[in-house]
Amino acid sequence: MRILIAVLLAMCFPVLGYGAENAAGNPEGKKIYDGWCAQCHGYKGDADSFTKDVSLPKPRDFTFGSFKFRSTPSGDPPTSEDLTKVIRNGNPGTSMPPWSRFSDAEVKAIVEHVKSFAPDTFAMEAKPIKIGTPPKASKELIEKGKAEFKAAKCVDCHGNAGRGNGEKGWQDDFKTDWGYGIAPADYTHGWELRNGSSLEDIYRTISVGLSGTPMTSYMDSLSDDKRWALAHFIKSLQLTRQLGLALKVKKTDNLPSKPNDPAWEKVDYMDLPIGGQLMFDTRDFTPVITNVRVRGLYTTKELAILLQWTDKKPNDGSDGKPTDSIRIQFPVKKHEATELPYFFMGTNKAPVNLWQWKASDMDKVFASVAKGHENVEPMEKSDATAMASYDDGLYSVVFKKELKSAKDDPVFEIGKFIPFSITAYDGRNGEENIRGAISAWYYLMMEPPTPLKVYVFPPVISLGVLIVGIGLHKKLRKNKRG
Ligand code: HEC
Ligand code: HEC
Repeated sequence: MRILIAVLLAMCFPVLGYGAENAAGNPEGKKIYDGWCAQCHGYKGDADSFTKDVSLPKPRDFTFGSFKFRSTPSGDPPTSEDLTKVIRNGNPGTSMPPWSRFSDAEVKAIVEHVKSFAPDTFAMEAKPIKIGTPPKASKELIEKGKAEFKAAKCVDCHGNAGRGNGEKGWQDDFKTDWGYGIAPADYTHGWELRNGSSLEDIYRTISVGLSGTPMTSYMDSLSDDKRWALAHFIKSLQLTRQLGLALKVKKTDNLPSKPNDPAWEKVDYMDLPIGGQLMFDTRDFTPVITNVRVRGLYTTKELAILLQWTDKKPNDGSDGKPTDSIRIQFPVKKHEATELPYFFMGTNKAPVNLWQWKASDMDKVFASVAKGHENVEPMEKSDATAMASYDDGLYSVVFKKELKSAKDDPVFEIGKFIPFSITAYDGRNGEENIRGAISAWYYLMMEPPTPLKVYVFPPVISLGVLIVGIGLHKKLRKNKRG
């Protein structure tokens, strides 16, 4: 909550009255910087600000002279274009917003002011590395990149499938020069790559590294060919993110037998962005699960829903930390009203049905009915079941339930929009109960065997409520993607 308020304040309101004096950089740049950037990066550029304790990663301390996002060799200062790019695009997965409100001349002035915080660094020449013409993608090249990924030991940190789940560690094991933990990137979430997700961006990242982090420069140790092959391999792992409001669930004769059955890959999917739960935050935390991919199928008898998400370090609760877990929420009974139940565990008037899966009990569903987060009753009987697998950084959990519904069950009616939402917990990050990453309400639609021509959406008035609830967070994320 505090993170969000801090970030929103920082994004929406220029600070009135300008702060402490610092060495004159560019007066116009200083004015804008003090108004819009200082609340995070500090008036003196030293990141001494009110967001420093609530933002992970922390805003950059510019006086350090070490810059992560560069087109220049490791140890050299970034170019003005590099700084401009971060300012214009923001930094995905961090609180650094994209800035489109300033004119090019204004950004230029801000850049000069930022440089004035590290005069020694910027006294050096900033010369971008040469990025030649990338070789065309091919199966062989991707295979070569995959082999190199092992040979160069990238796999130790990034994991076989590039989900950031290598043996070497997680964010509590790695530290940046600025003192906070950092996790190796998850390449499947291309939209979260901080230094850009295009082929050239990835090649550049591998070549010059990200200063201050365990991600070092490979320009001297790997040939140009090898770096391009690696870039192609990494690019090939990126998921095509599909955002939407409603998931199509098709009819089938046979459900795939396992959660990681390749047959699921041919089934329609939707990606749900998920983020911090804001209403009851008891202490600062940044949830680490950011996306859940959902698929569904149904037969004459049952409905199956597959949920998949990255978890860099699986946790079954045996080490004293909470267990990894995911929960799907439906309104109890048929949903005909214009308003959806309260997005976080319903209310007395509009209860919700919860199916929770936990890594500590891989094949079990904890079913309950909630009328608010302090009023949760386990169900005596529920025919919901679960099957789960963990493969190379990816959890896959299939929930199944007979279509017929008993008291307190959701109603699964063919051809209707059935609301659902997701809450996911990463145990190693200390997430459980009201601390987790939640989604907005979405819908699933079991398509009639002869598809309807036109789908009429249920009223989405209640989505307005959501925007107030968690939408702020999503909006920030969306902005950052832009
Ligand atoms: C809400 C907080 C916030 C605000 C406001 C903010 N930043 Fe940032 N900024 C961050 C964070 C957090 C990072 C660090 C990202 C990381 O470590 O990956 C960052 C990173 C940067 C970087 C990248 C430095 C590098 O290592 O390459 C630059 C440049 C930057 N900010 C400039 C600005 C400018 C200029 C403004 C004002 C127009 C601004 N920021 C406003 C939070 C903020
Ligand atoms: C010692 C651990 C370690 C090794 C070895 C390592 N990386 Fe990384 N890598 C990281 C960390 C940590 C990050 C995240 C840095 C951040 O987000 O600031 C990262 C980030 C990245 C990114 C994404 C940056 C972005 O834009 O967000 C790419 C691409 C990458 N590494 C490629 C590689 C390749 C290719 C290799 C092998 C040649 C490699 N890494 C070896 C730890 C490592």
